[in-house]
Amino acid sequence: MSGSNDHIDDKARRYGKQAIVAAAARLQSGGLVAVPTETVYGLAADSTNATAIAEIYRTKGRPDFNPLIVHVPDFDAARKLGLFNDLAIRFAKRFWPGPLTIVVPKVPDCAVAPAVTAGLPTIALRCPAHPLMQELLKISELFLAAPSANKSGGISPTTKRHVERSLGGKTPMVLDGGPCKSGVESTIIAIRDENYQILRPGPITAEELQNCAGKAAINHQDSRIEAPGQLASHYAPSKPVRLNATKTEPDEYLIGFGAAAGDSNLSASGDLAEAASNLFATLHIADASDRVRIAVVPIPKSGIGIAINDRLKRASQ
Ligand code: TXA
Ligand code: MG
Repeated sequence: MSGSNDHIDDKARRYGKQAIVAAAARLQSGGLVAVPTETVYGLAADSTNATAIAEIYRTKGRPDFNPLIVHVPDFDAARKLGLFNDLAIRFAKRFWPGPLTIVVPKVPDCAVAPAVTAGLPTIALRCPAHPLMQELLKISELFLAAPSANKSGGISPTTKRHVERSLGGKTPMVLDGGPCKSGVESTIIAIRDENYQILRPGPITAEELQNCAGKAAINHQDSRIEAPGQLASHYAPSKPVRLNATKTEPDEYLIGFGAAAGDSNLSASGDLAEAASNLFATLHIADASDRVRIAVVPIPKSGIGIAINDRLKRASQ
């Protein structure tokens, strides 16, 4: 530790310097803190502390074959944990800080606890853009492992309240950064020598990745569970979800988009980015409603609409 927190900027001050310093202290002593990012809230712990990582898995009820993303303050920190080839460097330089997770080989003698990578030779690294999370990473001087701060398989949290509702009595300290901006989890890519695969669609679209790399992603046909956010059933509400609904039944809570309004509209103006940022919050509301089933109108399958449809499909299975 530098012993000084003078570099906390005005943006971070808005969220409360004291809260950030308290969170850093808690993390340094092996505790958990739920943190806001630009995508969803994460359940963070020191990635080098095996006991703290075990507590993440316990709190989420997460199967231990599902590895965690490690959050870093910048590219230089990422290089202490992972091996970046030219293509990986190009992605990091273009999209960090931001909602892109890059899976690369671990460096020899990588400092993270083995449970973080669940035995894989690779590590998932992400440099988040949220100013509060950035400050926390800098002040704590930790690499923070953080899955989404919900019970395993449940709907991802985009507000402090969602975290508390999902984790209940197991909720640790929560840093409140307001509602998350992107609303769907980061895009995950895996570097495969000179190529890359998209393991999870997200806010950084396939088109943006292709423009950066100068080539399209190779197909992700690997049947091993490599990004279990890829499990068929995930992000699931407690009620049945029906997709591409063109008319609704009386016992259904209808989630709308654009002109197809429904009980809640993801975006009345038909803006897919707005729809993404409202997606999980709307699923939470639908789940808590008095209707026994949930229906969702068709959502366009372009840009970030790919990620929305991906999450909805898993929520419906
Ligand atoms: O936006 C996000 O990525 C959020 C915020 C909190 O940063 N985090 C998040 O974490 O969504 P989580 O744990 O819910 O999803 C992480 C995904 C999992 O599907 C996991 O299997 C995959 O990343 N993953 C982690 N390490 C991996 C690795 N070495 N190879 C392939 N996939 C990996
Ligand atoms: Mg998750």
